[in-house]
Amino acid sequence: MTGATDAGLDVVDLTVRYGGQVAVDRLGLSAPLGRLTGLIGPNGAGKTSTFNACSGLLRPSSGRIVLLGEDVTRKGAAARARRGLGRTFQRMELFTSMTVAENVALAREARQAGSNPLRQQVATPRQWAAVQAATAEALEVCGITGLADRVVGALSTGQRRLVELARVYAGDFRMLLLDEPSSGLDKAESERFGTILRTLVSDRGIGILLVEHDMELVMTVCDELYVLDFGALIFHGTPAETKASPVVRAAYLGSEAVMEAAGLAERGVG
Ligand SMILES: Nc1ncnc2c1ncn2[C@@H]1O[C@H](COP(=O)(O)OP(=O)(O)OP(=O)(O)O)[C@@H](O)[C@H]1O
Ligand SMILES: [Mg+2]
Repeated sequence: MTGATDAGLDVVDLTVRYGGQVAVDRLGLSAPLGRLTGLIGPNGAGKTSTFNACSGLLRPSSGRIVLLGEDVTRKGAAARARRGLGRTFQRMELFTSMTVAENVALAREARQAGSNPLRQQVATPRQWAAVQAATAEALEVCGITGLADRVVGALSTGQRRLVELARVYAGDFRMLLLDEPSSGLDKAESERFGTILRTLVSDRGIGILLVEHDMELVMTVCDELYVLDFGALIFHGTPAETKASPVVRAAYLGSEAVMEAAGLAERGVG
């Protein structure tokens, strides 16, 4: 079914329940390689729950997760990562006492070690060189080569966000799940962040599924959007179509700042 060459991540009829509460309700979405797909929706809509089901951190009540054409629903998080799925978390999880380069290198080392953690300690010179090269490339792509030897704890939020992105990029994944990767960035940083995301997708052919509350960023960088509300998919389309959708506007009623940034408010309701 999903044998196409651009198959990235497909979510099929996904339902996630916490006890009796339905957090994700029969969601279907496709995030192909070489495309930037956005997953948006108000707080509590089920975005992070969807990510957790995709990355294998929680078991769905029903539905399937298909990664690069392979059904991985019954595979654990490590197995999905080995198959090319990388993610960032809503709360940043960098090692603050380590340098930028060390944080980024660690991601690559972990990826090379695969399922065998011991291999991480006994890297050959060739593996070490590969880690160094991957780290240098990731820092370069994310424009933070100059920060390589700085301790992460001393960096600004904007710089840390770029380190986080470099770290997941260094992991050499085909498909990335980014959960609010730009939160805390100012306008200029956010624009730069968006440019880097476009580079990863267009030049490197990576597929990205992006959860982000920064509507200006989402509307600028995404190829298409899926909109969740109370766990259900309420809209799927291009950013322009999404902006024009009365259904989406209604879901965001009460969040005027979000609507304004998205361009949803411009049209008024009448
Ligand atoms: N571990 C959990 N146990 C119980 N309920 C949870 C759990 N995680 C999330 N929920 C609930 O599931 C629903 C969806 O939450 P989720 O975190 O997926 O939303 P979200 O779209 O990521 O929200 P936000 O934009 O605030 O990050 C919410 O009602 C939330 O309270
Ligand atoms: Mg969330």
